[in-house]
Amino acid sequence: RIAYVNGRYLPHSEAAVHIEDRGYQFADGVYEVCEIRHGVIVDLTRHLDRLDRSLSELSIRRPMSRPALAQVIREVSRRNRVKNGLFYLQVTRGVARRDHVFPSAETPPSLVITAKITDPAVIAKKNETGLKAITIPDNRWDRVDIKTVGLLPNAMARQAAKEKGAQEAIYVDARGMVTEGAATNVWIVDKDGVLVTRPAEHGILRGITRTGLMDVTAKFGIRVQEREFSRDEMLSAREVFITAATSICFPIVEIDGQPIGNGHPGAMAERIRTSFFDVAE
Ligand code: PDD
Repeated sequence: RIAYVNGRYLPHSEAAVHIEDRGYQFADGVYEVCEIRHGVIVDLTRHLDRLDRSLSELSIRRPMSRPALAQVIREVSRRNRVKNGLFYLQVTRGVARRDHVFPSAETPPSLVITAKITDPAVIAKKNETGLKAITIPDNRWDRVDIKTVGLLPNAMARQAAKEKGAQEAIYVDARGMVTEGAATNVWIVDKDGVLVTRPAEHGILRGITRTGLMDVTAKFGIRVQEREFSRDEMLSAREVFITAATSICFPIVEIDGQPIGNGHPGAMAERIRTSFFDVAE
């Protein structure tokens, strides 16, 4: 495998950043994960728009122009021969002597890009059987709208899920309302058959897959509502599913040991998933 690190294409095993990189010391950086399908980068423009927003919210300089960035992403995908897979892109505030205060404005940001092949059979299996989830109090900071590499709470949540035999942890805020998954957005089909997801104004990351799914619902006339929903409403929903670039749309069949709907993947998740790439490409 080949990785891009600060201007160079290196064998994966030799790709490294400096010990005083602010990403390493302060989680002072942002990232994007994007799907590559049949050799096409899915929703690249939206991912790069969100990257720009994350960078500007944290006053981190852009590492390079957008066309140059798109070019490097394509080159990393090509060198890794990725037809179906993911690329990972990370920008940090760069390397500087450890100090909480930002380094001088001339400090170049660090840029790392990797790509990997994913196995469609593994994803198909998850869609067929559905996933289990747990709920967990949302203990993150209030800027989860920025896609930062500060993912320790998310990693701990996923680990807690794993220890309970589940694959995702769903965050619930202090008011009992669902925010999002440890690395996904959450959707339900409510008792009236309406597709519901939390508004992206507060408490969640505005997922690119979430936005793509909105396009699907508009095209197929599926009723969708952006509103908050509680853990209780989720547990009694007809369907629950989660979305992310890594998983597009995985059905959740059990939460905290309780079956969702009839305990099998639902029709809405299936319909959305099969329509997703018709609209996205
Ligand atoms: N995570 N919410 C959180 C907290 C996420 O980390 C992610 C994605 C999403 C979904 O966003 P999108 O549809 O743009 O992938 C929502 C990535 C995939 C990750 O951390 O691996």
